[in-house]
Amino acid sequence: MAEKWKIVALAPMDGYTDSAYRQIVKKINPEVICFSEFFSADWIVHSKFLANSVLPHHISEKPLIIQIFWKDPEIFKKAAIIIESYWVAGIDVNMWCPAKKVVQSWHGSSLIINVDTAFKIIEEMSKAVKIPISVKTRLGYADAENLITFAKWLENAWAQLITVHGRTYKQAFTWNADWTMIYELKKNLWIPVIGNWDVEDYDDWMNKVENLDWFMIGRKSFWNPWCFLPWKNELSLSEKLDIMKEHARLLIELKWRKWCLESRKHMVQYLHSFTWVKHYRNALVRVESYEDVENILNEIKNDNNIYL
Ligand SMILES: Cc1cc2nc3c(=O)[nH]c(=O)nc-3n(C[C@H](O)[C@H](O)[C@H](O)COP(=O)(O)O)c2cc1C
Repeated sequence: MAEKWKIVALAPMDGYTDSAYRQIVKKINPEVICFSEFFSADWIVHSKFLANSVLPHHISEKPLIIQIFWKDPEIFKKAAIIIESYWVAGIDVNMWCPAKKVVQSWHGSSLIINVDTAFKIIEEMSKAVKIPISVKTRLGYADAENLITFAKWLENAWAQLITVHGRTYKQAFTWNADWTMIYELKKNLWIPVIGNWDVEDYDDWMNKVENLDWFMIGRKSFWNPWCFLPWKNELSLSEKLDIMKEHARLLIELKWRKWCLESRKHMVQYLHSFTWVKHYRNALVRVESYEDVENILNEIKNDNNIYL
């Protein structure tokens, strides 16, 4: 199992890290700390209905960290009080998102250059609730020059953990991640630092870890949620089928109307590296019911022509 001081985390991912996905990851490795998708703090404050649809979670997901975004410290504070009442373990503030709409509204990555507001957000939230407040951010906005100053600022505001994605806002999804700056940052902070970007699995992390405390995996977990385990490489197809069924079933429970679209998205990801089952992938993007999913997965299992 993972060394106790090296914590493994599932990255917050909009449209993916919902309750069903988190339950699947926790079933595979109960030690993983899950971050939710991001939610608007304003949305949580102003709609009890919406808050009630995304904040309740299954006991197996604990300890769960809920991520929120917005720009106004007062709204963040109110949202934090509401979120705490749902018995979550922590609240993560999104200072990461590079989407144009988000940045132009002064949310997400734009907080990196709006240091006073960033400080106030963390300070207000930390005063208002007992659970820890953390931040997910990038190396910087245009460059990484201010990373250490910015992070120390957040630490002084009482942030308890910081996740750094190894790219700047301007680099968006291009360029190779720069881990050296994250190692350097850790030398300057008291709080734990999570490194994030392009970690393949536990072994890959061991090559990158250096002085960091946690590792976080996002996209690679789509087709390999076993990537958080130290001793597992990607599983065989037959080993994946049961988890796929369980995932589809959980999605029905959680999103009964939208489950079909969601299920298609996840099911094909699991088959990502099995190019020889292309026709089954094509069938999975057209499923209309849980029975469709089950029938296709049973067909795969009983297909003597494919290597499981
Ligand atoms: C589909 C998708 C949705 C994402 N949504 C969020 C989000 O809601 N909040 C956030 O902080 N990061 C979000 N991210 C970024 C990831 O948390 C992570 O930083 C990024 O994918 C890099 O890690 P990886 O290389 O392990 O995937 C998202 C990424 C993807 C691919």
